Amino acid sequence: MLPDRSTFPPDFTFGVATSAYQIEGSRHGGAGLSHWDTFAATPGNIADGSNGSFACDHYHRWPEDLDLIRDGGFTAYRFSASWARVMPDGVTVNPQGLDFYDRLVDGMVERGLAPHLTCYHWDLPAALSDLGGWQNRDIAARFADYCAAIHGRLGDRLASTATLNEPWCIAWLSHFLGQHAPGLRDIRAAARAMHHVLLAHGTAMQALRADGASNLGIVLNFETAQPADDSPGAARAAQVQDAIYNHWFIRALMGQGYPQAALDGLEPHLPQGWQADMALIAQPIDWLGVNYYTRRLYAGGAGLWPQGEAVDGPLPKTQMGWEIRPEGLTEFLTRLARDHVGDLPMVVTENGMSEAAGPDVTDDPRRVAFIGDHLRAARAAMDGGVNLRGFFYWSLLDNFEWGWGYGPRFGLVHVDYETMARTPKASWHAFRAMLRG
Ligand code: NOJ
Repeated sequence: MLPDRSTFPPDFTFGVATSAYQIEGSRHGGAGLSHWDTFAATPGNIADGSNGSFACDHYHRWPEDLDLIRDGGFTAYRFSASWARVMPDGVTVNPQGLDFYDRLVDGMVERGLAPHLTCYHWDLPAALSDLGGWQNRDIAARFADYCAAIHGRLGDRLASTATLNEPWCIAWLSHFLGQHAPGLRDIRAAARAMHHVLLAHGTAMQALRADGASNLGIVLNFETAQPADDSPGAARAAQVQDAIYNHWFIRALMGQGYPQAALDGLEPHLPQGWQADMALIAQPIDWLGVNYYTRRLYAGGAGLWPQGEAVDGPLPKTQMGWEIRPEGLTEFLTRLARDHVGDLPMVVTENGMSEAAGPDVTDDPRRVAFIGDHLRAARAAMDGGVNLRGFFYWSLLDNFEWGWGYGPRFGLVHVDYETMARTPKASWHAFRAMLRG
């Protein structure tokens, strides 16, 4: 059961979230290749050998998709623009790309949906990847130019703008764990990306402010890291993961410096003179986006830093194998307010679960329960004084789940990838009943 709409303030935002590469179809409209197109073209990188070239064909079907958001009772839509569509070579504007997002945003406004833009949700132009991508300091200036271009065209209609989605994935998952494009497992590349992604955020914030942009933020992901047992090794492993995942970005953004437990391994590999960038990184933001899905348990391990490995936990799991733990959302929101952001507005910019489709593709009771439990967890944080302003479900549609391909289904709306037919699930109807009364 979803809670009553009246348990949240009337001006609390309910929306859904998507990203360009996961739904649009990446090859239309004069777009350039992104590093996700090239990563997906390398055998073994995507579980089902698929890619985002067609995805959910949102590039052509966006009017129907926006109708589904409106008809579900939502009043806000978090979407991303593709850098490779807007600037195919990473620097030169493709007018067709900007025109597409212009029409899309007009479509939102016509339907009474507040547009919430994420400038970067991972589709780095391959041409910039060739130059070292996030390992190259120049990315900061390139990114600021891109943000200025997309915001310059859409800004008059945007409710909010986020520079980046999930820097941990952009830097760590992609350059140390090798699971996302560009698929590196290289501590030096990872350390550089961990720093440059923040430098790019700060540089873009300055450029956007200079253009008069308002309501600017960033979206971070948080994942509870806990020791798998009571050994000192497990405690240490969880602490290091917590530092890399949950402290590195927010501390730097709030001017609190990088956490020592992460610097222990990364400092020798950071770009020289990194300390001088910390003030630029800590630009004031207007809100913080929080993506929350799960927790992970860590066992201690011998060997090289960060010493420790994720192990299977005992809680019920989603289709991704992710443990379901709603109280983690209350804990993070509370901890963020207490230790980092104070009264700064926060928004749950993503929360959701994947679940395989059964014989009746609309039947998703576990998702309804998941959403209800996480909404109550968000409400509990607000009861404790957290300044939470909105909740966006991930995702409107089943879509391309990165390295996992099209297997995992996160949508409130089922997508038949043969016909592209969209079918609202019980969870979409549950939201509609909650939000439309
Ligand atoms: C976070 C990412 O922002 C999104 O792209 C992804 O599909 C979901 N989490 C689920 O893994």
